[in-house]
Amino acid sequence: MQNRVTEILGAEYPIIQGAMRLITMGEMAAAVSQSGGFGVIASSGLEGERLRAEIRKARSLTGKPFGINIPIYRPNALEALEIAIEEGVKTITTSAGDPGKLIQRVKEAGLRMLHVVATVEMAKKAEAVGTDAVIAIGAEGGGHVGRDEITTLVLIPQVVDAIKIPVVAAGGIGDARGWVAAFALGAEGIQMGTRFLATKECPISEAHKQAILEAKDNSTLIAARKGYPIRVLKNKAAMAIRTMDESGASQDEINAYVDKISRVAENDRDNKLMSAGQVSGMIRKIMSVDEVIRSMVADAKIVAQNLGKTF
Ligand SMILES: Cc1cc2nc3c(=O)[nH]c(=O)nc-3n(C[C@H](O)[C@H](O)[C@H](O)COP(=O)(O)O)c2cc1C
Repeated sequence: MQNRVTEILGAEYPIIQGAMRLITMGEMAAAVSQSGGFGVIASSGLEGERLRAEIRKARSLTGKPFGINIPIYRPNALEALEIAIEEGVKTITTSAGDPGKLIQRVKEAGLRMLHVVATVEMAKKAEAVGTDAVIAIGAEGGGHVGRDEITTLVLIPQVVDAIKIPVVAAGGIGDARGWVAAFALGAEGIQMGTRFLATKECPISEAHKQAILEAKDNSTLIAARKGYPIRVLKNKAAMAIRTMDESGASQDEINAYVDKISRVAENDRDNKLMSAGQVSGMIRKIMSVDEVIRSMVADAKIVAQNLGKTF
């Protein structure tokens, strides 16, 4: 499949593995790119030299293009960009901040940039500063979501109508049905996070994977609506943060709690904060990254053909 998004990514399929902080490192990104998708190393929380090492690791495992994600508000955003340029990364995704801060250097170095947005307004701003595409994320998604909690089904067509650059849909996509639906809404690519969490290659704990497999449609919640909204699997830790947030705790107090629970054992399903999207309720099998991508590509053709027969 070739379209404007595969052209920007240099990938076979317009399927991006969403960056996941301290999870999607070089090995994971390489596995996705090697299977024809576009793997992304999360730079969030990494020291510069570790980021460089992960880029080199990915390069040693695949000759195909992969990217890095840079949360723009982080103090080391510019350093991460320079490392990407030095290491020959051609396409980056950016999130959480003003894309105007990085765009000049990105263009000067000849990189391509897709910026994550959660509203039409943010998408228009990203287009105006010159990003190559936007990744529009709905509130179903795992990890940080937009404050306005706009769902993918309504966000994508409105963003598509408002801008001319390509739109990648994210949030709630976990199989070929979601992919075809996103394209019906006008998206030209998809980004998935949670589906890639439940893969053999993903280095999260077995407890986190098991919680995704057992999840129902209503097993996630947005933990901190008033602070930095984040979608996680419901457990004791998630409920504690929600209670703090609703009772007016400051962001510093919530951060202190998050910091405390970040030290609990990885397999502690009650007290470990486990990000995942609502799509968890549809994921019933741990697959390899290659199986995820191959099955989606095969099924998407069938779903699209069946739609053709119905309409
Ligand atoms: C555990 C986790 C960590 C994430 N970390 C980041 C991150 O560092 N940067 C970013 O732009 N998005 C991050 N995201 C969002 C994903 O890249 C992706 O957009 C989202 O998971 C898509 O929704 P889905 O989970 O429904 O597929 C994270 C998501 C999860 C589940």
